[in-house]
Amino acid sequence: MRDRLRAIPVFAAELPGFDPASAPDDPAELFVRWLDHAVEAGVPEPHVVNLATADAAGRVASRFLILKDVGPHGWSFASGSTSPKGLDLDANPHAALACYWPRVGRQIRVSGTVAPEDPQTNAADFLARSPEARAEALVGGQSRPMESPAQHERELVEARERVAREPSLVAPEWTLYTLAPAYVEFWQGDKDRNHIRLRYNAVGDGNWERVLLRP
Ligand SMILES: Cc1cc2nc3c(=O)[nH]c(=O)nc-3n(C[C@H](O)[C@H](O)[C@H](O)COP(=O)(O)O)c2cc1C
Repeated sequence: MRDRLRAIPVFAAELPGFDPASAPDDPAELFVRWLDHAVEAGVPEPHVVNLATADAAGRVASRFLILKDVGPHGWSFASGSTSPKGLDLDANPHAALACYWPRVGRQIRVSGTVAPEDPQTNAADFLARSPEARAEALVGGQSRPMESPAQHERELVEARERVAREPSLVAPEWTLYTLAPAYVEFWQGDKDRNHIRLRYNAVGDGNWERVLLRP
């Protein structure tokens, strides 16, 4: 197995450069630049990010989800507040996001504290989802054991009918969370492992200190 894993190429694509001296003052702006570049380069699903959370005892869990927004306020994603990640965030707001785009050899890491948005914002995010996605969220119970697929299918059909009847219905647990970063790191991979790493540290009042890190 070790040999097989070692034989799988990494940083195999023609990788772009990254000049940290030309990076903007705000990491959200650089994230958007990199995201636009990834979309142009044909990176599949570049808005899928890994979210790591920990419970009150420090037990860590991670999973992938969809990035919903990025701006000066932070990085936003959505989920149910009673899902394991929602319970983790309720008990311990410290969390981290990471994404890796193989086609361009870029990794971005964001770490900070997460807070839920207000009910109106959560409702707006929920109502912007597809009817199927809304029905699934209305059934709820994410990550809990399923009695049987047939039972779940029945609940889903019922929920779809409810969504069709009541198009403004909002699942009360649906929450848009925003991670306000303490730091954001931009990582440009290099075939020869001389990776370029630029870290933005939050220093208060929306200001950032920029630090280059050893690969
Ligand atoms: C590509 C992809 C996108 C996903 N997007 C979301 C999402 O936006 N919100 C969400 O709650 N779960 C999303 N999931 C499912 C999560 O990975 C996870 O299975 C689920 O949220 C339960 O996580 P938890 O038990 O840690 O709370 C996505 C999974 C994948 C693979």
